[in-house]
Amino acid sequence: MSNEKLLAIVSESEEMRSIMDIIDRVARSNINIIITGESGTGKELVAREIHVRSNRAGNQFVIINCASLNEDLFDSDLFGHVKGSFTSAINDKVGFVEKANNGTIYLDEITALSPNMQAKLLRFAQSGEYNKVGDPTVMKSDVRIISSTNKKLENEIRSNSLREDLFYRLNTIVLRIPPLRKRREDIPVLVKT
Ligand SMILES: Nc1ncnc2c1ncn2[C@@H]1O[C@H](COP(=O)(O)OP(=O)(O)OP(=O)(O)O)[C@@H](O)[C@H]1O
Ligand SMILES: [Mg+2]
Repeated sequence: MSNEKLLAIVSESEEMRSIMDIIDRVARSNINIIITGESGTGKELVAREIHVRSNRAGNQFVIINCASLNEDLFDSDLFGHVKGSFTSAINDKVGFVEKANNGTIYLDEITALSPNMQAKLLRFAQSGEYNKVGDPTVMKSDVRIISSTNKKLENEIRSNSLREDLFYRLNTIVLRIPPLRKRREDIPVLVKT
C-alpha cells in the first residue's frame, strides 16, 4: 500500500476534533490502537493519518483485511515463505509482517480472525518474532499495529470472538469514532469533498 494517498479528515464536529487531538497525541508514540466505529465512519482514514503523522511514515502502511485471510495460507500471508516449502510455493514470498517492518499494520476487522489465527498473531504481537514457512530462522519485525472493528468490543470478547489476551495486546487505547448521525456538522463538508 502506498503512503501517498492522503485525504484530509473532515472534523468540523466537536467529536471529530477531539479524535484529531487524540491522533495528534498518540501518533508519534509506538502504542497499538484499536479503532471502533460503524462501517464508513472513517476508521481506515484515521489509521492512515496516525501512520502518516508517526515517525514510521517513511515506511509501509500495510492493510490486512482479516476477513479475506484463509486458515491454510495465514502463515504464508503474514510471515512469508521460502521457495519449495509447500507445493504451490514456487518463489520466496515476503509476508505482511516483513513488509511492514518499521511501519504500520492496519488489521481491518480483527474479529474475523479465527481463534487459531488470533493465537498466531498474539505470539507475534508479544515478541515481534516470527519465522517464514519453511525456514526455522527467527526473524524480527518492528511494527505498530492499528486494528479496527465495526463490532462492539465488549460483546466480541464476551462471546469469545476476540481473545482477551490479544485484545489487551492490541489495545493501548481504543479510539471510538461516532457515526455521522451523531456529528451532523461534518455532513456539509463531507458532501463537498
Ligand atoms: N471524517 C471524514 N473526512 C473525510 N472523509 C471521510 C471521513 N470519514 C469517512 N470518510 C470517507 O468515507 C469513506 C469510508 O471511510 P473508511 O474506509 O475510512 O471507513 P471505515 O470505517 O474503514 O469503513 P468500513 O468499516 O466499511 O471499512 C472513505 O472514502 C473516506 O475517505
Ligand atoms: Mg475500512
